Amino acid sequence: MNIVFIGAGYVGGPTITVMASKCPEIQFTCVDINQDRINAWNSKELPIYEPGLDDLVKKNRNKNLFFSTNVEEAVKNGDIIFVSVNTPTKTFGKGAGYAANLEYWEKTARMILDVSTSNKIIVEKSTLPVKTADAMARILNSDKAKYHFDILSNPEFLAEGTAINDLLHPDRVLIGSFENENGIKARQKLVELYQNWVPKEKILTTNIWSSELSKLTANAFLAQRISSINAISALCEETDANIEEVSKAIGMDTRIGNKFLKASVGFGGSCFKKDILNLAYLSRHYGLTEVADYWESVVNINEYQKERLVDRMLNNMFRTLSGKKICILGFAFKANTSDTRESPAISITKKLLEERAEISISDPKAIENAKKDLADLEGKISFTEDPYEASKGAHSLLILTEWDIYKDLDYQKIYDHMEKPAFLFDGRSIIDRQKCYDIGFNVFTIGTSSLKHFD
Ligand code: UDX
Ligand code: ADP
Repeated sequence: MNIVFIGAGYVGGPTITVMASKCPEIQFTCVDINQDRINAWNSKELPIYEPGLDDLVKKNRNKNLFFSTNVEEAVKNGDIIFVSVNTPTKTFGKGAGYAANLEYWEKTARMILDVSTSNKIIVEKSTLPVKTADAMARILNSDKAKYHFDILSNPEFLAEGTAINDLLHPDRVLIGSFENENGIKARQKLVELYQNWVPKEKILTTNIWSSELSKLTANAFLAQRISSINAISALCEETDANIEEVSKAIGMDTRIGNKFLKASVGFGGSCFKKDILNLAYLSRHYGLTEVADYWESVVNINEYQKERLVDRMLNNMFRTLSGKKICILGFAFKANTSDTRESPAISITKKLLEERAEISISDPKAIENAKKDLADLEGKISFTEDPYEASKGAHSLLILTEWDIYKDLDYQKIYDHMEKPAFLFDGRSIIDRQKCYDIGFNVFTIGTSSLKHFD
């Protein structure tokens, strides 16, 4: 059997690698139109950083795992085609800023139709709005089609930074199909593939629309928890309540659960905002204004949380940041990834530059992406991987990613080479507040009252 992934990104690359490691008798080919990306997948320096990925790629590459730009050839020979191309938010026309741009998806569908010389199973892996499979089925099974195509929805729930573990030990695998004879047969084939390493009881089959909507809903619920706790963090900062104590207290209620209750500078990543706006767009399309407004408020709180942090800096740093050096520790949208898509660090850097601050950025893995994200901005920005170098002469530290290395920095050494009074804003609550305050920092963490050496 030949399995093909179209799109060698953060989803396609790790997913095909784990599948290849678990199914040695199947040949896997990952194709992409981006030559540089494919070259990187075939080299020592993979295009994405993900713990555990390097080893797994090395073990399987050129055995039963291949990376190629020969999209059409691979698709022609494939029995199961997973489509994991990107589905960015539309930037033009109807639904701009909300709806998914399905241009790439449709092109992919037409290409599959043109090059195929056998029946195939086509699997949606990217997050797409509900009913995309319907459109896909109509294109693929049009009058022009000489072969039969079964469309399945198999959303991926991996989180970056823990992708390999999430793929090896998923909470569940979801497979949606049309509920006719062919659809159910195709779905069974995919179930058998996953059964190579996933326990049967964790493989859930549904109708195709439930599967598509479940992915949007899972991301909306996860993001909603973060916005809920972040909204409460604003209240904690005004009172003597402490958000970590509140999180712990509510998380011990088994109905609520203790995960995804970490107050932060706000969520980032390629999925949450995009999927919620998509859900809102869909809801509006069906005339469900209240439903759309409800979910959109999750994104609004996330924007507010980032603005609040910059306001807190301004208010406490004598109402001006102009000409002051701010050292940002962490640019990735979360720890253990090089990915910076929708990272809170991007919009916060923009806001700080508008205040004419001087920005020094440090990150162990995301500096290259940060440079691309900020390429068009005017103002003083420097990039230095070493946090000690980056913070020399800074007025303030600003922690935006919870990298482990930032927990154990020598904050005394950093304090000694900073301007005074020295400020520390921790957007991830990872530092020892009292210790940093005792060193001399004015300390501000999310969801706690400030520790200041002045009134
Ligand atoms: C998310 C979903 O978790 C995953 O199931 C889906 O497939 C893709 O989208 P990802 O964006 O990779 O995964 O990372 P995730 O761990 O969900 O974190 C998203 C953002 O939320 C990060 O910026 C993270 O720092 C933030 N976050 C997460 C919080 O601020 N607080 C939390 O308690 C958890
Ligand atoms: P994700 O996080 O969803 O994996 P990425 O942007 O990391 O998103 O990856 C998507 C990949 O899909 C990119 O490498 C892009 O070049 C690739 N891609 C987009 N359109 C096509 C296409 N028509 N054929 C092959 N690859 C494509």
